[in-house]
Amino acid sequence: MQRNRHRRFSFSVWRLPRLAGVIVVASSLLLLASDNRPDRIPSYVSWTPETIAAASAGDAFRGMLLARHCDHCHGAEGFSAVASTPNLVRMDKLAIWKQLEDFRAHKRTSRVMEPISESLSPRDVADVVAYYSKLPVFTDPQDNRSFPQSRPDPAHAGIASRLISFGDGERGIPPCQTCHGPVAYRPGVPSLATQNADYVLNQLEAFASRARANDINEPMRTIAALLTEDERHALAEYYGAGLGLQPGSSK
Ligand code: HEC
Ligand code: HEC
Repeated sequence: MQRNRHRRFSFSVWRLPRLAGVIVVASSLLLLASDNRPDRIPSYVSWTPETIAAASAGDAFRGMLLARHCDHCHGAEGFSAVASTPNLVRMDKLAIWKQLEDFRAHKRTSRVMEPISESLSPRDVADVVAYYSKLPVFTDPQDNRSFPQSRPDPAHAGIASRLISFGDGERGIPPCQTCHGPVAYRPGVPSLATQNADYVLNQLEAFASRARANDINEPMRTIAALLTEDERHALAEYYGAGLGLQPGSSK
C-alpha cells in the first residue's frame, strides 16, 4: 500500500515538467499558426453573388470624376504614359475591383497604390471600376502613349505564342490564354492583350519570387516560377507589342 502511493507520487512528479513542456510547445505552435495565418490567405476577395454585385454596382459618371486622380499615371484613356505602369483599358470590372480591394487590404503591395486605394471608399472603388471597365479601346498613334511597344524578334515571338496558345505540357504550364483570353476568359483574371511589356515582366518576376502573392490558389506564383527568364521576357514583349490581340501570331 505504502509502496504503491510512493509510486503514484513519483509518477505524477515525472509527468509535471513534461506536461508543462507540452503546454509551452502547443501554445507557441498556436501562436505561430495565428501569426502566420493572414499571410497564407492570398486575398480577402472571393467570387460570390454579393462580391460580384458589389463590383458591378458602380456609377461610371462619378467614376469618371474620381478617375481624374488616376489620369496622371494611368492616362486619361486608360493607357498609361510609362510602360512600367499598367494600362487599365480593356480590363474586366472584376479584375480591377479585386486588385483595388487587395491593395486596400495590403494583400498586394505597392508603395503607390496601397495609400491611393485606401483613400477610396467602397463606393468610390465600385465607381472607378465602372468607369475603367467601360472605356473604349482607341489605338490612336497621335496620342502620347507607350502602347503598343516595339515588336519582339520572331524567335522570341514564337516562344511566347507557343506558351500562350499551347503552354508546355512537359513542365505542367497551361496555355496563358485558357485564363487570360482572348479566346477563353475567366472572371477576375486581368486581360493581358493591351498590357505594357515592362509591367507584365515586373509582375511575372514578382509572382515567381512570391513578392506578389495575391493570386487565389496560386496559379501565377506556380506558372511564373516554372518559366525561364528568357520566356518571361518573350511573353512580356509579345503582349506589350499588342500581339496578344491576335493570338497565334509570331510575326
Ligand atoms: C502615382 C501614380 C499612380 C496613380 C496616381 C494611380 N496609380 Fe494605379 N498603379 C500605379 C502603379 C505604378 C501600379 C502598378 C503597381 C505594381 O507594380 O504592382 C498601379 C496599379 C494599379 C492597378 C492594378 C492594375 C493591374 O493590372 O493589376 C489598378 C486597378 C490601379 N492601379 C487603379 C488606380 C486607380 C483607380 C487610381 C486612381 C484612384 C490609380 N490607380 C492611381 C500607379 C498609379
Ligand atoms: C489557371 C489560370 C491562369 C493561367 C493558365 C495563367 N494565368 Fe496569369 N493570372 C491568373 C490570375 C487568376 C491572375 C490574377 C491574380 C490576382 O488575382 O491578382 C493572373 C495574373 C497575371 C498577370 C498580372 C496581370 C496584372 O494586370 O497585374 C500576368 C502578367 C500574368 N497573369 C501572366 C500570365 C502568363 C504569361 C501566363 C502563361 C504563361 C499566365 N498568366 C497563365 C490566372 C492564370
